[in-house]
Amino acid sequence: MTPIESLTIPDAPTIARWRDDFPILRTRVHGKPLVYLDNGATTQKPTAVIEAERDYYMHANANVHRGVHWLSQRATRDYEGARARIASFLNAAEPEEIVFVRGTTEAINLVAQSDVRGRIKPGDEILISAMEHHSNIVPWQLVCEQTGAQLRVVPIDDSGTLDFEAYERMINARTRIVAVTHVSNALGTINPVERLIDIAHAHDVPVLLDGAQAVAHVPVDVRALDCDFYAFSGHKIYGPTGIGVLYAKANRLKAMPPWQGGGDMIRSVTFERTEYNDIPWKFEAGTPNIAGAIGLAVALDYVRAIGIEVIGRHEAQLLADATEAMRAVPRVRLIGTAQDKAAIVSFVHEDVHAHDVGTILDHCGVAVRAGHHCAMPVMQRFGVPATVRASFALYNTREDIDALVAAMRKVQEVFGR
Ligand SMILES: Cc1ncc(COP(=O)(O)O)c(C=O)c1O
Repeated sequence: MTPIESLTIPDAPTIARWRDDFPILRTRVHGKPLVYLDNGATTQKPTAVIEAERDYYMHANANVHRGVHWLSQRATRDYEGARARIASFLNAAEPEEIVFVRGTTEAINLVAQSDVRGRIKPGDEILISAMEHHSNIVPWQLVCEQTGAQLRVVPIDDSGTLDFEAYERMINARTRIVAVTHVSNALGTINPVERLIDIAHAHDVPVLLDGAQAVAHVPVDVRALDCDFYAFSGHKIYGPTGIGVLYAKANRLKAMPPWQGGGDMIRSVTFERTEYNDIPWKFEAGTPNIAGAIGLAVALDYVRAIGIEVIGRHEAQLLADATEAMRAVPRVRLIGTAQDKAAIVSFVHEDVHAHDVGTILDHCGVAVRAGHHCAMPVMQRFGVPATVRASFALYNTREDIDALVAAMRKVQEVFGR
C-alpha cells in the first residue's frame, strides 16, 4: 500500500468534482451555503448511493433467500453480491465473515451477547479504553451485570493518547476480550491497533475494533490487522443509515450461538428442535435491510474508486490546516491533540458553552456537533461538559475551514470576547 505521506494532495478541481457527487452540499442554510462539518455524526451520500437505493426499490424489490421467483432471486443476488464487495473492501478472507447489522452499536452488542457473555465468569475482565463511544461501553457493562465480570478501562493522557504501558500492564490471564476504538470520535486519536492486537493475541485474548470513525478515513485490512472483530456503520462512510457490518473471523462466528431468533437464521424448525443456518445468516434473523446493504456496497465502491489513501491525504491536510486555524482563535482550546489523528477537531471556548457556539455556527451555515458526542467519560476525563467538534470528510475544503474560523469570529462578536 502506498504510504499516505507520499501521495499528492488532491487539487481543487478534483475536490470540486467530488463535491458535485453530493447533491445535499448545494443546500443553503439560513441563507448561507451549507458548510457540513458534522461527518463524525454521519456523512452525506453521493448520487451513486441514492440512485442505488432508488433503483433497488424501482426495479428489484423482493425479499431475499425465500422466493423462487425472478425478483427474489435478483434481490438475493444483489444482497449477497453486496456482502462479497464489502468483504473485498475489508480484505476479509470470505464473504461469510460479513454479518449485516443495523450499525456499529448492534455489531458490538452482538459480540457482547453472543461471543463474550457465554464464556465469561465472575472475576473475568473486559478491557476497553477511556476514549470509547457509549456503544463500546454500555454493551460491556450489560455483560458485566449479567455475569459478574469486571470492566477495566485503559487510561489516556492529556493529549488523548492511549497509555500503552498501562494497557500492557492491565491485560492479564483474566481478560476475555479487548474492545477498543480504531479512531476516537470525540478526540480524533488513531489508536495503534496493530500493536494492541499483537499484545492481546500474545495473551490469547480476542480483539474487537470499533471502526465507526476509521473506515471512511484510514485503510482497513482486517487480515493484515488480524483483528477478531471489526464493526462499522454504513452511514459514516457515505452509505445509508440502518445498515452496518460486523466482520468476524469465520471460526469465531461458527463457534458463536445465534443472538436473535427468527426467519432466515434457521435451516429447519420443529417445536422440539431448531437447526440453525450457516454463518453469516445464522446472525441475520428476519428480513434484512436489503436496500441498505446494496447502498453500502455502492458507497464502498465509491470510496475505493477515489482511493482511501487519497482521501486520507486530503483529510490530513484539512486536519493540519484546521488545527492551525483553530489554535489562532482567541479563547479556544483544542481537546485531543494526539500525534496520530484523523480529521476531527474538538474544541472548547473558554467563555462560551459548546451549545451556544454550535448555535451561532449554525446561523453562519456551519454544521458542527456540540455536546458530549456519546462519549461522556471523555468529557469527564478532560473536565469539560461538552466540546464543539468539526469533523471532516472527502468533500470538505480549505474554504470550509475559513467559514468555520469566520463563524468563530461571530461567536466572539456576539459574546463580546
Ligand atoms: C466511535 C464510534 N463508535 C460507535 C458509534 C455508534 O455508531 P452507530 O450509532 O452508527 O451504531 C459511533 C457513532 O458516532 C462512533 O463514533
